[in-house]
Amino acid sequence: MSPGAGPRNNSGRYPSPDDNPPPCQETRNLSARILSSIRVGDPAASERDRFPFTIPALQGLEEVAFPGPVTFFAGENGSGKSTLLEALAIAAELPAVGRADASADDSLVSQRRLAATLKGVWRRRTHRGFFLRAEDFFGFVQRLQQTRAEMEARIEEVEREYAGRSALAKQLAKGPAAASLGAMEATYGRDLDANSHGESFLRLFRARFVPDGLYLLDEPEAALSPQSQLGFVAMMGDMVRQGAQFIIATHSPVLMAVPGATIYSFDATPLQEVEFDALDGVTLLRSFLAAPERYMRRLWEEPG
Ligand SMILES: Nc1ncnc2c1ncn2[C@@H]1O[C@H](COP(=O)(O)OP(=O)(O)O)[C@@H](O)[C@H]1O
Ligand SMILES: [Mg+2]
Repeated sequence: MSPGAGPRNNSGRYPSPDDNPPPCQETRNLSARILSSIRVGDPAASERDRFPFTIPALQGLEEVAFPGPVTFFAGENGSGKSTLLEALAIAAELPAVGRADASADDSLVSQRRLAATLKGVWRRRTHRGFFLRAEDFFGFVQRLQQTRAEMEARIEEVEREYAGRSALAKQLAKGPAAASLGAMEATYGRDLDANSHGESFLRLFRARFVPDGLYLLDEPEAALSPQSQLGFVAMMGDMVRQGAQFIIATHSPVLMAVPGATIYSFDATPLQEVEFDALDGVTLLRSFLAAPERYMRRLWEEPG
């Protein structure tokens, strides 16, 4: 199966556990083949009391291990997941999809200071892969839409300007715009921007995916419906079988349920590994879905 083809069934949805036998657990047995861990060094004394070194999850942190191909950063908003992930992208020199490279982005000055204290322990050093934040993905799709509109406008203009001229002359004049449009469609498909965000995200991922790459993702679920999150899990499974490694900051229990994944809670000082079932977000969501009305009575109906 090609990456991202996903095991959709005939009804177009991803299978539920009731449709099929339990999923295979092979990712559990795969070890990380790219980045084994990061060692966290001490900042200069003058930096210790400044952000980002003040983040509780980083206090006393010496090393973060990536024992398997899939690792998640979990924890409350503001607990430091994005900061560490961004610093990691800088330290690993991974390209950022959808914006300036992390090493050049002005908003990442603090993350670069943190990155300077990180040392990757590589099983196999690579620059394959990328860093992607869901928020950059939305901007990326917007820019693609804009580029496409510009190319299409240029092609229409040529049609008007060259009315009555030979097909060859038209063809030549349309050349650069048509070539750019063609290249975009070849990479991202004809309808990247016409697709739902979920479909577009999966498509973008497939287009940019290379085997044996390291993929750092910040809250990919922001672009994905629960159904598309299942599609993304299927795609990740395919990619892991092709040597990929993922480190993902997320709030999504669907993603974090990946078999054999390592989950770090950033709510602990320093951050520490937790079991899926012990995640605050998972226990809260379970309890909520079991009786939403109980929560709503408290939250909605009782005065502050
Ligand atoms: N440049 C900055 N300077 C000071 N504080 C920051 C800066 N960037 C983020 N923060 C704060 O650091 C904390 C961690 O942020 P972040 O890594 O984005 O958390 P998460 O991704 O877990 O939600 C937050 O409280 C945030 O407000
Ligand atoms: Mg974040």
